Amino acid sequence: MKFTAPAEHNPIDQLKVVGHPHDRIDGRAKVTGTAAYAYERHQVAPQAAYGYMLGSAIAVGKITRLDTSQAEKAPGVLGVVTYKNAGRLKKSKSHASRLLAGPNVEHFDQAVALVVAETFEQAREGAKRLHIEYTSWPGRFDLAAEKVRAVPPKSNPMSGPPDTRVGDFESGFAQSPVQVDSTYTTPDQSHMMMEPHASIAAWHGDQLLVWTSNQMIAWAVRDLSETLSISPQKIHVSSPFIGGGFGGKLWIRADAVLAALGARLVKRPVKVALARHQIPNNTTHRPATIQRVRLGASKDGHIQAIAHDTTSGNLNGFREERAGSQSRLLYAGPNRLITHRLATLDLPEGNAMRAPGEAVGHLASEVALDELAVQLKMDPVELRLLNDIQFDPEKGPQRPFSSRKLKECLSEGARRFGWERRHPQPGQVREGNWLIGHGVASALRNSPTLESAARVRINSSGQLTVETDMTDIGTGSYTILAQTAAEMLGVPLHHVTVKLAESHFPVSCGSGGQFGGNSSCSGVYAACLRLRNALAHKAGWDVETTTFSDGHMSSAGQTRSLGEVAGPKGLSAQDKIEFGDSQKKWVQASFGAHFVELGVHRISGETRVRRLLGVFACGRILNPKTARSQLLGAMAMGLGAALMEGLAVDTRYGNFVNHDLAEYHVPVHADIPHTEVVILEELDDKSSPLKAKGVGELGICGLGAAIANAIYNATGVRLRDYPFTPDRLLSQLPPV
Ligand code: MOS
Repeated sequence: MKFTAPAEHNPIDQLKVVGHPHDRIDGRAKVTGTAAYAYERHQVAPQAAYGYMLGSAIAVGKITRLDTSQAEKAPGVLGVVTYKNAGRLKKSKSHASRLLAGPNVEHFDQAVALVVAETFEQAREGAKRLHIEYTSWPGRFDLAAEKVRAVPPKSNPMSGPPDTRVGDFESGFAQSPVQVDSTYTTPDQSHMMMEPHASIAAWHGDQLLVWTSNQMIAWAVRDLSETLSISPQKIHVSSPFIGGGFGGKLWIRADAVLAALGARLVKRPVKVALARHQIPNNTTHRPATIQRVRLGASKDGHIQAIAHDTTSGNLNGFREERAGSQSRLLYAGPNRLITHRLATLDLPEGNAMRAPGEAVGHLASEVALDELAVQLKMDPVELRLLNDIQFDPEKGPQRPFSSRKLKECLSEGARRFGWERRHPQPGQVREGNWLIGHGVASALRNSPTLESAARVRINSSGQLTVETDMTDIGTGSYTILAQTAAEMLGVPLHHVTVKLAESHFPVSCGSGGQFGGNSSCSGVYAACLRLRNALAHKAGWDVETTTFSDGHMSSAGQTRSLGEVAGPKGLSAQDKIEFGDSQKKWVQASFGAHFVELGVHRISGETRVRRLLGVFACGRILNPKTARSQLLGAMAMGLGAALMEGLAVDTRYGNFVNHDLAEYHVPVHADIPHTEVVILEELDDKSSPLKAKGVGELGICGLGAAIANAIYNATGVRLRDYPFTPDRLLSQLPPV
């Protein structure tokens, strides 16, 4: 079906199943260890051999000698894949560099070999016996140094042109009596999902089967096809359970390609998991940014000029971090300038990580707002309310937001948090050695929608089966898709079985960009409408007058059970949702406001967050429990970005030094204080038939800025270089 006009009243509005906080239907399998992750799928590929990937020891250069003979003789070793025997491999358009190096090397830890053996230990031992010599060349590893050579990146279908201009920023800024001009930096960040990248591959004749951990099944097929130069019809990908992705598994990585090559070499299924330490340098990360934000305002706080200039870098000039995305939309102001520049670096590939662009964009833009409030001597909540806008500030009133409740989030949050008790002067509240502060930030995350297909089947006992190649990366897809189908056909939730993430299922939107829940449920909605039609047709009834409830369908005084109408062979229907130009007509984004209370230790410089409140408005909530979990997790990630996360670049050798969870710090339970998530009621009829919007990546946006602003309120120290580890605060804290 085509979604061309705002959704009218439809069966989802009954809210008999949708909108309820059902537990995740995969929850039991997850916690009992029976949900098999890619590396553990022993049944589908018995007797799999083990592959151990070896990464390049240099960043840029050439392999000058490659001797696999000792490795091949090692006990248990079955074969060694290198560029010499891999055949011709292409670089797909999804990747910045090739997934197997040789003889040229493009980045540190780029795969150079896969040793395949009977056991994991034998494969790893074999890898130690590889003899590889390199010549290395100087590389570009320092973003700050390369900034002068940065260039405008290409336009991109989802986020538009890299630069946008409205009015005349320069003169608007010059004429503003109150100005902020600040530069912020954010470091490279690693996804560090719990489940590492892992794949098992097997060949059945010329058919390639890959059981992997991937967010986007159809993209995985496409990219394997491009890389290996085989027809997509011969590639089968399966990824039913995924232990986190965060954007790091949007595209296949070396594990999948090397498993396929290894399996072809040793004529047996091969499994490959990346070791934790291989993830930061071998796979992708979120690129570092340098962001300059300029704000000009009138004395009463109306923003007159906004500029947000972002520089990021990437391998082979691949793609930029769109940190200015939210600045295009968040506040009013007649003169606007948003730019992105991209430097070419020889660090590993930078790519999407949860709320790409906006997550780190807010770390600059929402601190700049706080700096403006300080200059204006105005309450930062009030400043944000004053500059709210209900239409696209670049395009004008003819392009309204599909729905926007930023003001409501800010006001409700301020009320619940007790914002009025905050001391407006920084550094005034102390409890023992702790300096106490409060901060606020807005949150905006674009809410894209993507075409998504599904198939729904009903059998003679009225049981439904949903099939789509959608993935569940820990988000709750199984559950909300089942809720959607149950609502549409009027059956209880336990009569629905959801099957996901097989490449022979209808192609969905996949999990990414917080489009997954809304778009894939809309795909199931479309397929269910077809099935309702098919059932009505089979019963000889008019579908317009037919109602579906309690496992039955009724029309004109007649009632029959769905199973009976479906008959012994059952009935099935397939359709997809297409969104047409709905994203053009309306700006679609979800909104929120974060409130933070924290303490900064005046002697050690340590920051401890005490209280977090996030108030969000993101369309209809399909399942309050899974939505809340998404927001909670994203807020924890936002805290990590503010206080601890950062890959340390060795600018001599071009690698990320802290490549494990001992050295790349993410928040643990002890770091996360009492966190309250409040979701405001909202129906967005312009977004989809479900009237829902994106939830998954909203919570990470803005939280880190609220922490930065609270640190300022606590100490009077304005930090602009993330993360705010104690050493960065210590030297600036007032003397004790
Ligand atoms: Mo998301 S960074 O598109 O998985």
